[in-house]
Amino acid sequence: MKPRELKKGIYCVGAIDWDRRLFDSLIPLPDGTSYNSYVIQGSEKTALIDSVDPPMAHVLLDNLTGLGVDNIDYAIAHHAEQDHSGSIPRVLEKYPEAKVVCTPKCKDMLIDLLLIPEDRFITVADKETISLGDKTLEFVHTPWVHWPETMVTYLREDKILFSCDFFGSHLATTDMYVSDEGQVYEAAKRYYSEIMMPFRTTIQKDLEKVQSYDIDIIAPSHGPMYDKPEFIMNAYHSWLFDEPKNIVVLPYISMHGSTGRMVEYLVSSLAEKGITVKQFDLTVTDIGKLAMALVDAATIVIGVPTVHAGPHPVVAYAAILANALRPNLKYASIIGSYGWGGKTVEQLAAMIPNLKVEILDPVICKGYPREADFKALDNLAAAIAEKHKENNYT
Ligand code: FEO
Repeated sequence: MKPRELKKGIYCVGAIDWDRRLFDSLIPLPDGTSYNSYVIQGSEKTALIDSVDPPMAHVLLDNLTGLGVDNIDYAIAHHAEQDHSGSIPRVLEKYPEAKVVCTPKCKDMLIDLLLIPEDRFITVADKETISLGDKTLEFVHTPWVHWPETMVTYLREDKILFSCDFFGSHLATTDMYVSDEGQVYEAAKRYYSEIMMPFRTTIQKDLEKVQSYDIDIIAPSHGPMYDKPEFIMNAYHSWLFDEPKNIVVLPYISMHGSTGRMVEYLVSSLAEKGITVKQFDLTVTDIGKLAMALVDAATIVIGVPTVHAGPHPVVAYAAILANALRPNLKYASIIGSYGWGGKTVEQLAAMIPNLKVEILDPVICKGYPREADFKALDNLAAAIAEKHKENNYT
């Protein structure tokens, strides 16, 4: 994509990655992504905001050449992760006068990750400013969106917030601004659930901090920009602050149909009691959809068969992932079937210490479920319904 003017003297110079389907060798990208980078040309100085993932460095460098940018004074690094910082060494090579501007913590990380020489850095404190002449950059420290070193930049005269991962979405699109709010809401929620949710108590403060600025445009480093910032600000507020909803998330595996029959029965029983259930067969599910469902759910029930005396490894993977994402769940339980014995419940429960949940009685049956097992599943559904009602989860 060639450079595009965002406002007078401000250009989008990043890259669209239409075909990428996995991030961090973990996160599915059903809609590709983009690495947004911006050039700000002031009356005296020029700044580059973030760079691009290294395999697409040529797009950024060609765009800078195409725009006739013959000098960069400041390469702003909001975040040390390589999808934004990875091409900075190429930028520093092309522009030997450029200094990397970042938080002190980001400087240490960039030295470790990219081996950038120490004398190429300027570190900035929270709320510190740099003047480009007729444009002023204010740096706002916003830890944990997405790593501990992250910051955002507010361009005062144009009221633009350059937010890097904060408010971003993995979405490849030619639209400069959000055109389909439903599509972007889903992509941004997916993104929030995968990388922001574990740090939500800190990010609550970050959100309140940036909401105190008068913002016309949010320009993230993934996905389209927001010319109606309240759309994404309101969405983040809801994801960060709302109470859980009357939802059960039910990831499961079934090998020979026994656990599958229990899942089917429990889902029906929960639905009868007015509870929304989101069921995920882990052999085929998109892990991002599971992560998204965890943003709002009050309860997780894990459906697991026993394999070699322990939980099925695919379920163990999902449990470890849910534990890492630290969703705002309040209740958990485990259902499943075994052949002759094992420690499935104990081992699985030990994999989710970060989930500050009350454990409701598991339902584990030997072989195919019988009448007593269905009764136990009804009791579990009733217990969940009671808990949700007590807390007014709607
Ligand atoms: Fe888009 Fe945390 O990097």
